[in-house]
Amino acid sequence: MENDIEKVLVDEQEIQRRLDGMALELEGDFPGEPLLVVVLLKGALVFAADLLRRMPRMLEIECLSVASYHGGLDSCGVVSFLDRELPDVRGRRVLVLDDILDTGRTLRAVVDRLLGDGALEVRTGVLLAKAKRRAADVEANYVGFHIADEFVVGYGLDYRGRYRNLPYVGVLGRAAR
Ligand code: XMP
Repeated sequence: MENDIEKVLVDEQEIQRRLDGMALELEGDFPGEPLLVVVLLKGALVFAADLLRRMPRMLEIECLSVASYHGGLDSCGVVSFLDRELPDVRGRRVLVLDDILDTGRTLRAVVDRLLGDGALEVRTGVLLAKAKRRAADVEANYVGFHIADEFVVGYGLDYRGRYRNLPYVGVLGRAAR
């Protein structure tokens, strides 16, 4: 698996250090209030697990399965909610966690849906944000790392379902695609 990676973009130590900072920032921004965290599956699984364990506060975790990429390299542009039932967010302050902000369509659709379902406030946190023009009008409130516009895998991000368990974020070599 490691041989398929052309270059490491963000290494394990950098990620772990940055998560310490993000957790502190979040603690400061949501002091002592009840917080509902919505984790977007499957990409944000690893990021959320490491980040939320750094937040020694009362919170609830819900997961949402959202499809926009279908395991390849390109976004199809349509965001679908795959769960039969969505979490009850009425009157709640919500933090949505996703792996990466790319076109912005996923976060835009999720934020709109949760606000439409009655959330009091929705903020967003991503491990990575690609430097590009967003197709949808959205930026994340909390960003781990800003990266160039290239396809990355690892630390939750996949190519055709693989590479999510790499402890770092890297660029997949041409031969592996
Ligand atoms: P949008 O375009 O809606 O994309 O902001 C968000 C979702 O698309 C996936 N995505 C990627 N997955 N490497 C991946 O493994 C990438 O470089 C990449 N760019 C976007 C991801 O699932 C994200 O939640």
